[in-house]
Amino acid sequence: MFGPTIYKERRAALLAQLDQGIVLLLGNEESPKNYHDNTYRFRQDSNFLYFLGLDQPHLAAIIDIDAGSTTLYGTDPDINHVIWMGDLPSLSDLASSTGAEQTAAFSELPEALAKAKTAGRNIHFLPPYRGDNKIRLHQWLQIPLNDLGREASIPLVQAVVALASAKSEEEIAEMTKAVNVTRSMHHAAMQQARPGMKEAELAGLIEGIALSHEGDVAYPVILSVNGQILHNHYHGNTLEEGQLILVDAGAETAKHYAGDITRTFPVSTHFTTQQKDIYEIVLKAEQDSIAMSKVGSRYLDVHLSAAKIIANGLRDLGIMKGNVDEAVAAGAHALFFPHGLGHMIGLDVHDMEDLGEDYVGYTTALKRSTQFGLRSLRLGRALEEGFVITVEPGIYFIPQLIDLWRSEGKFMDFINYDALDSYRSFGGIRIEDNVWITSEGPKIIGEPIAKTVAEVEALRKG
Ligand code: GLY
Ligand code: MN
Repeated sequence: MFGPTIYKERRAALLAQLDQGIVLLLGNEESPKNYHDNTYRFRQDSNFLYFLGLDQPHLAAIIDIDAGSTTLYGTDPDINHVIWMGDLPSLSDLASSTGAEQTAAFSELPEALAKAKTAGRNIHFLPPYRGDNKIRLHQWLQIPLNDLGREASIPLVQAVVALASAKSEEEIAEMTKAVNVTRSMHHAAMQQARPGMKEAELAGLIEGIALSHEGDVAYPVILSVNGQILHNHYHGNTLEEGQLILVDAGAETAKHYAGDITRTFPVSTHFTTQQKDIYEIVLKAEQDSIAMSKVGSRYLDVHLSAAKIIANGLRDLGIMKGNVDEAVAAGAHALFFPHGLGHMIGLDVHDMEDLGEDYVGYTTALKRSTQFGLRSLRLGRALEEGFVITVEPGIYFIPQLIDLWRSEGKFMDFINYDALDSYRSFGGIRIEDNVWITSEGPKIIGEPIAKTVAEVEALRKG
C-alpha cells in the first residue's frame, strides 16, 4: 500500500463532497471455490483499496462525515491465526498504516449501523456486487436484497467517480509497472508461439509471468485463434500455420493496478497479405484514436472516428460500400467492430464498473446509445486530465453474425456480403494500449510493445 497520508487525503477529499451522515465501506471476504477453506485468490474491493489501501479480508470502515474521522472494523489475530498463517498485523497496526483514527471489533459494526439508523443519519454505501456483502447489508440495514442496488448512495458513487477518475503520479507509476509486466507477457507469447502448440501452453506461460511479478492477471487471459469471439477464455485449440492469435491479457501489480493490452500476431512468422490489410486498418484506427484522445475530446467522438477509419479501410478492400459517414451513422460497421473503443482503467480493468458504467462513462447530458455496437461503448464523455483509458479498436469476422445480417437483408447498401466468403475463417484483430490523458497530450503508458507489422514479424522470426 501507499503511505497513510495518501489515504487520509483521499478520505478527506471524499468527505468534502458529501453532506452529512456516515460512509460505510465494506472490504471483501475470502471467497470459497469448491468448499469453505479452498478459496479463490483473495482480491480486496477496489474502493476499499482506494480509500484505505488495506489488502486483508474481513475489514470494514465507517467514515463519519460530520466528525471527519475513520473507524476501522476488524478482528485482532489470535494464536490460531498465527499457527496457520504466521504473524499478522494487529487491528491497530492496520489502522496506523492507513491513518484511521479509531478501531473497533468487526462484531460491533451491526450495532454501530443500527445506532446511526435510529439517529436518522444518512448511511452512504456503494452498490454491492458480492453475495456475502449483499446479505450483510440486507441484514444490517434491513433493505430487501433486490433493492440494495437502488438504495446505494448516488452522491457517494458520484463522489468516488469524481475523485478516482484522475490518476495521481503514484498511481501512474503503478500502472506503468502493470503495463511493463504486461509487455513481458505479450512479448513472451509472440516469441514462443509455434505451430502445433496448444493455446493453453501460451496462456499458462503468460499468466505465470504476471504471477512471478508478485501480482496476478487483471482479468482472465483471452488468447485464441478465434479472436472473433470477443471474450474467449477457451484455450484448447492447437495453433496452425496461417492462423492469427489474438492475445488480450494484462497484469495487476501487487498494489492491484491493472494493465489491459491486446496484440494480434500470426502463428506463421509472417502475416498473409489478407491479414496484413486488415491489420493496417486496425493499427491506423488505434494510432489515430490515441492521437485524438486529448483533454476535452469526447470519447464518443473518438470512437466514431475509429469506426469511420474501419469502415473506410473495409470499403477500400471492397467489403463495405457506399458513404462511410452514413454507414457509421446507421451502425453498419458494427458487423465488424461490435464493441466500444475503450474504457477507463485503474484499480479495476474496467475502472469503477461496480459503481455503474454510466456514472463512470456518461453524464446527465450525454446518454449511452442503444444502437448495436455503440451501446457497448463504456466511456463516451469528454476526457479529463489524469484519466487513463484503453484504446482498443478491432475488426472481426463473426460468421454467425454475418449469416444473420445477410439473412435479414441488413445494410445491403453498405455491406458487400459476397466479398466476405474468403474471410469466414479469418478470426479477428484487436490492438490495444493504455493511454494517460495529460495536459501535454496523450501518453501511451509503459515501454513500447511490438505493434507494427514489422515489429511483430521481427519477434515472430526471432
Ligand atoms: N480486456 C478485456 C476488456 O476490456 O473487456
Ligand atoms: Mn480493454
